Amino acid sequence: MLPPSTLRICSLLLLTSPGSAAAEAAAALTVDVYSGPTDCPDDSKVQPGNHISLHYVGSIDKSSATGKPGKTFDSSRVRSEPVDVTIGIGKVIKGWDEGIVGLCVGSKANLIIPPELGYGHDGVDKDVPGGATLHFDIEVVSINAAPPERVEGNLFAEIDTDGNGELNESELEAYFKSIHVEEVPDEMWEHEDKNGDRIITWEEFSGPKGSRNPMGDEL
Ligand SMILES: *[C@@H]1O[C@H](CO)[C@@H](O)[C@H](O)[C@H]1NC(C)=O
Repeated sequence: MLPPSTLRICSLLLLTSPGSAAAEAAAALTVDVYSGPTDCPDDSKVQPGNHISLHYVGSIDKSSATGKPGKTFDSSRVRSEPVDVTIGIGKVIKGWDEGIVGLCVGSKANLIIPPELGYGHDGVDKDVPGGATLHFDIEVVSINAAPPERVEGNLFAEIDTDGNGELNESELEAYFKSIHVEEVPDEMWEHEDKNGDRIITWEEFSGPKGSRNPMGDEL
């Protein structure tokens, strides 16, 4: 419904799997720190409730019973910007909450996350089917004082480079090029351009767009 490479991450990170207690007991999460510090002072160590910036590459683990082993389904690296998440309090999948708390800023780790601590029996889309074991190669970039502004995000303003409250084809093309997507995905037009005029207005846009139309005062 929204540009998959940008917004899919929101749905991925916010989705928490139901998982049963019995299944969790059987499932083992592995965390292998392969680079950076493994011990550090408390203020450099991720604690539950911390807001952190994180790089990740998510793929289907080699051991996964479902999905295509090795297939990357999402990555912050292609956007070159880390994502900001609140960790350890149920805002992200359990495998992140449990695997990332205790890691040090600057560390890189491989997390192998069984389905019960990932996206469970439902999965999340065709690349992450139900029952998939996930592999996240992550880097803890920083612990932040508070969630930065862009957690809320205003994707609309980012794309609307001339700030006129409308996204036209050139602005959308430029935006998608900037995130390494060669063409504006058809679904963007199908779902967002409600009246089919090849202009996506602030009112039409369903992604993160702030609380008021940038041109609101003049309308
Ligand atoms: C889209 O908007 C930009 C910025 O205002 C403008 O330069 C460009 O010509 C417009 N493109 C189209 C296809 O209307």
